[in-house]
Amino acid sequence: MTRVALTLLVLVALAAPAALADSGPPRQGVVIDPGQHGAGLVGEGASLYAANCASCHGPHGVGVLKARRGAGDVPGQGPPLLGVGALSADFYLRTGYMPLENPSQQPSRSRVLFPEEEIRAMVAYVASLGEGPGIPRPQPQKGSVAAGNTLFLQNCAGCHQIVGAGGYVTGARVPPLEEATDRQIAEAVRIGPYLMPHFSEQRLTNTQLNSLIAYVDYAKHPDDAGGWSIGHLGPWPEGLVAWLIATSALVATCIVIGKRLKA
Ligand code: HEC
Ligand code: HEC
Repeated sequence: MTRVALTLLVLVALAAPAALADSGPPRQGVVIDPGQHGAGLVGEGASLYAANCASCHGPHGVGVLKARRGAGDVPGQGPPLLGVGALSADFYLRTGYMPLENPSQQPSRSRVLFPEEEIRAMVAYVASLGEGPGIPRPQPQKGSVAAGNTLFLQNCAGCHQIVGAGGYVTGARVPPLEEATDRQIAEAVRIGPYLMPHFSEQRLTNTQLNSLIAYVDYAKHPDDAGGWSIGHLGPWPEGLVAWLIATSALVATCIVIGKRLKA
């Protein structure tokens, strides 16, 4: 074998696993079969729904009860989607909460599997299943951070912690809020995903919601009055950091003095 051929062989052998790794986990059957469910955005959404969601949410979003096996005899269960509206579909798809892998798992923020157009199609399809709320358009710039802080303490901090850092409650992981967009915060508040309670407009008006979002956005980047934030943990770690720096400086000085004395 010539040297060139050998080099090529080695290169191919090196590139193969890299190419495999690059392809990532297989996408869940994103099958588009235009025509089968009618044309247009809703039709495209219906096909995507049939391929990716119906096993758990049933045909036409009627839901799959616990005891039954889902469409196509795939074991699955999911709540009905009739009337959840564009709001809920938009939230669950854009956070990567859906599609779930396993119906008994808690949905969590993960890689979004679908490109923009497919998300819009599925949102349109879910919205077409029954009358439901549309996608909210919050305006946090009209809200007040101070009012939002109070509302957050009263309604959210019990689970999400005071700076929205997340944690645990019985039976659920409570996610941090730093990745949630303004729209997703508004959606989550109205839906109450998983074990989170939902807040109707009577409990939290849209004006209060604007303030709440303004506060969550503020808590993502609290104004640090100079210096390091050190996790916003307060004086204890600050003292620790001061000691660390002071000790290192002292040790360095001793070494220098030691060397001079020797010389
Ligand atoms: C009883 C505890 C509880 C309370 C109170 C609560 N949440 Fe939640 N929240 C959760 C849980 C649990 C989830 C995760 C839902 C899931 O995995 O489907 C969540 C998810 C969220 C998300 C999605 C975050 C993401 O990136 O996945 C947002 C935004 C949110 N909550 C905002 C709020 C706001 C704002 C309030 C107050 C008005 C609030 N929550 C009150 C428990 C709570
Ligand atoms: C493995 C089963 C499974 C698959 C697949 C799945 N879901 Fe779900 N879905 C669930 C379960 C379980 C819940 C309830 C989760 C919760 O309580 O937060 C849910 C909740 C939802 C909700 C919230 C409903 C509400 O009451 O507001 C929407 C919207 C949704 N799914 C859309 C979809 C879409 C769109 C797809 C396909 C891309 C999909 N799901 C795929 C199991 C599944």
